[in-house]
Amino acid sequence: AKGAAMVTAVAYRLTEQARQIQETLAEFRLSKSQLLEVKKRMRMEIERGLKKDSHKEAAVKMLPTFVRSTPDGSENGDFLALDLGGTNFRVLLVKIRSGKRRSVEMHNKIYAIPIEVMQGTGDELFDHIVHCISDFLDYMGMKSARLPLGFTFSFPCHQTSLDAGILVTWTKGFKATDCEGEDVVELLREAIKRKEEFELDVVAIVNDTVGTMMTCAYEEPSCEVGLIAGTGSNACYMEEMRNIEIVEGNEGRMCVNMEWGAFGDNGCLDDIRTQYDQAVDENSLNEGKQRYEKMCSGMYLGEIVRQILIDLTKRGFLFRGQISETLKTRGIFETKFLSQIESDRLALLQVRAILQQLGLDSTCDDSIIVKEVCGTVSRRAAQICGAGMAAVVDKIRENRGLDHLDITVGVDGTLYKLHPHFSRIFHQTVKELAPKCDVNFLLSEDGSGKGAALITAVGCRQREMEAQ
Ligand code: GLC
Repeated sequence: AKGAAMVTAVAYRLTEQARQIQETLAEFRLSKSQLLEVKKRMRMEIERGLKKDSHKEAAVKMLPTFVRSTPDGSENGDFLALDLGGTNFRVLLVKIRSGKRRSVEMHNKIYAIPIEVMQGTGDELFDHIVHCISDFLDYMGMKSARLPLGFTFSFPCHQTSLDAGILVTWTKGFKATDCEGEDVVELLREAIKRKEEFELDVVAIVNDTVGTMMTCAYEEPSCEVGLIAGTGSNACYMEEMRNIEIVEGNEGRMCVNMEWGAFGDNGCLDDIRTQYDQAVDENSLNEGKQRYEKMCSGMYLGEIVRQILIDLTKRGFLFRGQISETLKTRGIFETKFLSQIESDRLALLQVRAILQQLGLDSTCDDSIIVKEVCGTVSRRAAQICGAGMAAVVDKIRENRGLDHLDITVGVDGTLYKLHPHFSRIFHQTVKELAPKCDVNFLLSEDGSGKGAALITAVGCRQREMEAQ
């Protein structure tokens, strides 16, 4: 009888444990009405960002980009492009040919940006960038060419023209000093001057979302939205000039860089944020900022998972109650690992092998729990990202006074491309929450580089026209 009582006690503890784990994860499982609420709030924040009176305080900045149209195929020439702010820093040479046999040819080189440089002084960062450009020009044998350059700089910038952008705030892993409040194009020009090795003509500063939209629009004219679901999360779209109150003029459209990562910074998402989201925020380089991004982008998903695992371990539900050094390490769960853990083709034994690789000694039960935690966190990410996109496409539909809208969204980013479920859940959510829109998603190939070159081409043409 004693044995039986013990068995019952163990069984009870196990079910109680399972119940508590489910209770923890339940907060991440959003209902349709909660997601509709996220969509509605995003819509409200969009209006705040666009209106003159509320723009200053608005969390979602809705930044004008001075890109007035998508490409028309007449873009032509050789351009240099820089891509800073994604997973890698790259320098590219892009050759665009117009006419009957349109083509884009690209050469590029990836450079590392050491963490000391990302978080050092602004001069060090820009000197490093120019050093990489110099190396690239040597490599291509083009040092004397004085090429026009498009700078994909994937951070919020206040633009007053195509070639001027004041950095509002660093996001993601960057924190170089003396850059916020400065015109990034000027910082680049000055660094080029300091080097005294070559000349370049900086024509455009471009957000990665805009580059992605332009690249996809080059192939598919119905593309008027850009999305990045990668290290960071953000979107842009073609807005009516009459609605962009902080820019003069009412005719036509302009692309707006939403900077939707900052959605929630005024507290409007507090009811769905969990204690784990708060812990991730407190541990970050930019506390209190980019709250939506911290719930749905690659740089932070693994961190949310890690915070949950720490808590479950403390409560004795995981890893035999032992918090290892690994589990205390920031950034261990990169998108790459989450994607592997959540892959359906992977047997649990393989999940354990991955955890082992990360230095986490797990039992079979542990690996089941870890996989469920990952799945829950990434599902919520895809859903709230979908709710944001549903707000955007419905806004475009209403702008145009349509009952039904067909539109294409150009997409890039490691989370979207690598993760086994993110894109599917994201698509499903957009469909459910914006039933009056038929949204087609187009993967961009090298959007940041190609897009910067296309925008630079348009910028050069505009200049020539103004000169005449
Ligand atoms: C961050 C940046 C934004 C960028 C996004 C994706 O949210 O602030 O400018 O588009 O990351 O890289």
